[in-house]
Parts: sequence; C-alpha cells; structure tokens
Amino acid sequence: MPISERVAQLGSGVFSRNDARKLVYVQGGRGSGGLNERPALLDLSLGSTDLPPPPAAIEAMAKRLHHPASASYCLHGATLPFREAVAAWAWRRFGITVDPETEVQLLVGSQEATAHLPLVVTDPGDGALLLDPCYPSHRGGLILASVRPTLLPLRANQGWRPDFGHLPASVWDQLKLMVLGFPHNPTATTGDQSWLDGAMARAIDHDLVLAHDNPYVDLALDGEAPALLRHPDWRRQGIEFFSFSKSWCLGGYRLAFAIGAAPLIAGLRQLKSVVDFNQTLALQAGAIAALEQAPHWPQQLREVYRQRRDGMVRALLAAGWSVSQPSMALYLWLEVPPVAKGRGLDSEGCCAALLEATGVCLTPGNGFGPGGEGWLRLALVHPLPELEAAAARMGAWLGQL
Ligand SMILES: Cc1ncc(COP(=O)(O)O)c(C=O)c1O
Repeated sequence: MPISERVAQLGSGVFSRNDARKLVYVQGGRGSGGLNERPALLDLSLGSTDLPPPPAAIEAMAKRLHHPASASYCLHGATLPFREAVAAWAWRRFGITVDPETEVQLLVGSQEATAHLPLVVTDPGDGALLLDPCYPSHRGGLILASVRPTLLPLRANQGWRPDFGHLPASVWDQLKLMVLGFPHNPTATTGDQSWLDGAMARAIDHDLVLAHDNPYVDLALDGEAPALLRHPDWRRQGIEFFSFSKSWCLGGYRLAFAIGAAPLIAGLRQLKSVVDFNQTLALQAGAIAALEQAPHWPQQLREVYRQRRDGMVRALLAAGWSVSQPSMALYLWLEVPPVAKGRGLDSEGCCAALLEATGVCLTPGNGFGPGGEGWLRLALVHPLPELEAAAARMGAWLGQL
C-alpha cells in the first residue's frame, strides 16, 4: 500500500502515544480485577480545560441550531457577521482597525491554521524557522508542506527567550516562514513584546512571513501577553492566530480565527476552500456571543489558574519536585528529576513510569521537539485539591526511586 513519506515523517505524535499509555493504564486496572487498588487516572497531559465556557455562547449556539441555515454548507460570504465581530474585538483589544473582508479568516482551530499556512507560503524544499520546543502542529505543518525546518533552540538559562542572533544572515535569507508562539506552549513562558518586535524586524529584513500562534493571548498571569497585532507593521508580512479554545473554554467546538496581511488571508482562504467548508452558523453564533457578551471570561479564568498555579507550585515543591513559577496560565514545565535521569529515564520514560506507578499522566517534553527532552509538561486542568493529590503521588514516587 503506498503511504507517503511525509505521513511516515509525521510520526505517532506525543498526544497519541500518551493516549495509548492511558488506555493501557485504565485497562490494566480492569484486567487485574484491581480497579480499586490502582489509583484513578489523573490526566494532566492535555491543555483541555475542565472550566466551563460562557453560558451565553452555548445558548446562542443552541438557539441557532434550530435555524435551517445552520444545516447548510457555510461558504465564506456567510461568515461575514463572525468576521465583523472579530474586527470589533480587535478594535477593543488592540485599538486597531481590521478589514473583516480582507484581513480576517474563520478557522477550525489555531492548530488547523499552523498546519495549513506553510502550504500557502512555501514550496517544497523551502526553509522555515521553528522554535524548539514548539507545539507539534508547527512542525507537522512544515512536514506536510515538504519544508525544511530550521530549529531555533529555546534554553532554560536564557529564560526561554529566542535568540534570533543565533542564526547567520545566510540562514535567514533561505527562510520563507517563521512560526512563533508566545505565550509559549510548552515552556509556559509569557514572553515579551520586544521578542516579537525583534522577529518582525528580521521578517522584514529577510522578506519572510511571520506567523504568530497566539491562543494564549488572554492567559498571561504576570504582565501582558505579546501580540503581533501590536506591531505597527503586522500588515506587511504577518499573520496571527487566535482561538476560542483557551480564552472561552470552547476547545471541542473547534473555533478560531486569523488576522493578517491581506495576501496571506486570501491564500489561506483559497487553500481552505479546497479542504473544507466553514463551521456551521450555529457555532459561529456561539463564537460571536463569546466575543460580544463574555469579554470578561478570560479574566475569570486567569484568577482560577493563578490559584491553581500557586497552589500546585507549592504542593510540588513540598513533594520534592523542582519547579519554577510560570508567568502564564494552564501549564507547568518541570525538569525530569535528577534521580529519574539517574535511573536512565528520559522524558518519555519518566512519563510512562510515573503513569504506571501513580496514575498521574504528564506530557513528555520530547513530544515538542528535541529541545523539550529532559522536561515534562503538566496541565492545570483539574481543581486544586486534585492537583495537590497528583503532587502527593508524584512526591511518593520520587521518594521510591
Ligand atoms: C500553541 C498552540 N497552538 C494551537 C493549539 C490548538 O489550539 P486550537 O484548539 O485553537 O486548535 C494549542 C493547544 O494546546 C497550542 O498550545
């Protein structure tokens, strides 16, 4: 059976590997008849929140579901009310005027956009810059487009700041695309506007597209998240992706949008018109309601995540794990403990062993690129008492190693 080389290159993906391990853990408990003896699975491996979306959004969707047009294919023209609501949001959020016709695009997710954009910007064999570590779809999108990735390492001792000077001008000149994302998953670093400004300067100097994946724009806990739209030249060769998954807890509904340079939006729209139609008008009605009626939602989330972050950092330190306080919500980024390294466990081995022994599931850092090796990502997606229970199990496991 012919299967493309590019699909082979995609590999199994860290979330799929973890999924398989979780299944084995849960089934193992059943098979042994010892379900009660095994600690219940505590899944902290996905950035999929337990917090609820705004009722106004769900009500708007439910109401609109009964409308016959919601069952029809939704072509681009019908997304105008959504795009207008996004343009109004951009004005309120960043004080910028955006043309809903040429500069806004509805997306199925910011993940979808990072996977599709390379096909819009590059040709096979071109080069593109990725952060290492980075969200898996950033790399996956390059593989799908047969693009050569250049990795820009992020390092703990540099505060995970991208060092654009690390690359010589000759390398920059070969790049067509740079994909960044701050606040940053998985290192839980908010980043700084000056980092993006530096990236934009390089993009302009070397004539490449800067794509900024920004689903966490509302989830900085200390200070303000950077945004490409704050840069005066974003229209020149920039595009930024925002999502309803994190700010409004609507991850399962698959709603996001891009704001960017008109030729990039036009190209993405053209590409997407081949791939699929748009989300139903019912989902779009919910998204509009979130933007217009629940602008306060992210603020509430931040308060909850702040308590979880502070409580979990305390609990982990008390349990003997080394962890520093992240500046954004949702994740902690933990170094594989030296004692686990001493036992020959890399990030994947450490996650597997921890899950097997305790039922606590984290994400191995290597799933985000080679630069994530030696690290583990923990998502703050359970109430604090459950997170504290996870920390206690993790501490007991460390003690036994
Ligand atoms: C950096 C980054 N981009 C994209 C996504 C996916 O977002 P969406 O649900 O909008 O596809 C995530 C989800 O965790 C993410 O961390």
